[in-house]
Formats: sequence, structure tokens, C-alpha cells
Amino acid sequence: MKSTNITWHDAQVTKENRQRLNNHKSAILWFTGLSGAGKSTLSVAVEKELYSMGIHTYILDGDNVRHGLNNNLGFSPEDRTENIRRIGEVSKLFTDAGVMALTAFISPYREDRNMVRELVNKDEFIEIYVKCDLEECEKRDPKGLYKKARSGEIKGFTGIDAPYEEPSAPEVTVETDKQPLEKSVEQVIDYLIQNGYVR
Ligand code: PPS
Repeated sequence: MKSTNITWHDAQVTKENRQRLNNHKSAILWFTGLSGAGKSTLSVAVEKELYSMGIHTYILDGDNVRHGLNNNLGFSPEDRTENIRRIGEVSKLFTDAGVMALTAFISPYREDRNMVRELVNKDEFIEIYVKCDLEECEKRDPKGLYKKARSGEIKGFTGIDAPYEEPSAPEVTVETDKQPLEKSVEQVIDYLIQNGYVR
């Protein structure tokens, strides 16, 4: 049921005040890609680099968030959409707080990712396509989930019997099956520097 009789309260300290205090902009670094493509690994490595540059960050990761905030959601299309909607709202709070939010979710539906893009200012959503061939993801299979999906033990697994819609115009694409991790980190950091998010 939707809430009624609620009023928005403006704070006296604004996002711009917080960004000035932090000496960097805030935005959502939205990592999307197949399971096993390297979203978590890359977001952790990018965060480490940003931290060393003095940037305030926070990572929201699929597996972790599904243990808490989203522990009532499964993998049906509706639940995945709700998963991404909540993460979008939480990430928006982080950008309001002046923090760089890094999110690592499969987020398989283009419409859901665009919904998050629409939530924030135009330059506050940076879509990073963590691209990797399904064949390679399956070979990596770090959690043994592809094997289970192939045997029918898991139903509705992304890339096997559930869709993954590639981003049509991501701000950054990193090909994790073609280059080392360091190169992908560099690509993301370069984008942030070249576009004035961080110095
Ligand atoms: S989604 O689609 O964005 O809501 O998914 P996400 O919250 O990122 O969760 C993906 C991780 O959940 C595990 N898992 C599955 N993934 C895809 N499909 C199905 N059916 C599924 N069941 C469990 C899997 O470990 C995913 O982790 P990553 O890190 O992506 O490999």
C-alpha cells in the first residue's frame, strides 16, 4: 500500500555542499554484466583505486545486498526489477550524500537500468558494461551456478534460460575476457578524470 499524507523535507546542507567538502563529484558507477563477467572484482578494484585518490565511495553488490535489504527477492523478472529499483533509490541517497556509489548487479533489463538513469541527474549515472562472452563466463563458473543451470537444477539463470539485454550506449565498456583487470580499472578511472568527476 502506498503512503499518503507525507511531506518532503529539504535539508540545509545540500549535495553540492557535500561535494565541495569532499572535493569531488558524486555519481553512480553502475556495473552491469553476466554472472561471472567480473562485476564484483572490477568494482572492488576500482573502489581501491578511488580510495587511494581520496574519493569517498561505497559498494553495493548483488550477492551482499540480497543477504539483507533485498532478502525477500528472488530472480523472477518482477523481483529483479524490484531489486534494481531499490538499489537505484539507495544509490541515489549515496550520491545525495556526496559519495561515489559503485553497484555490481547483473541488472539484465535495459528498462530497469534506464529507470535508475532517470532517477538522478543526467551526469550522475555512469553505466559500465562489464562485457564477457557467455562461453568464458561459463568456463570461469566461480560459484558452479552455470553448471547447475545447464543441468536444470537452477531455473531462470541469466544467459542460459533468462535474458541479458546488453547496454545500448554505456558510458564505458570493459572487455574482461580480452584484457587484464588493471586495464579495465584504468579505463574506468580515466573516464572519471576526463569527465571531471575526480582529479
Ligand atoms: S539481478 O538480475 O540484477 O537482480 O541479479 P543480482 O542481484 O545481481 O544477483 C546476481 C547473483 O545471484 C546469483 N544467482 C543468480 N544470478 C542470475 N540468475 C539466477 N537465476 C541466479 N540465482 C542466483 C549469482 O551468484 C549472481 O552473482 P554474480 O556476482 O552476478 O555472479
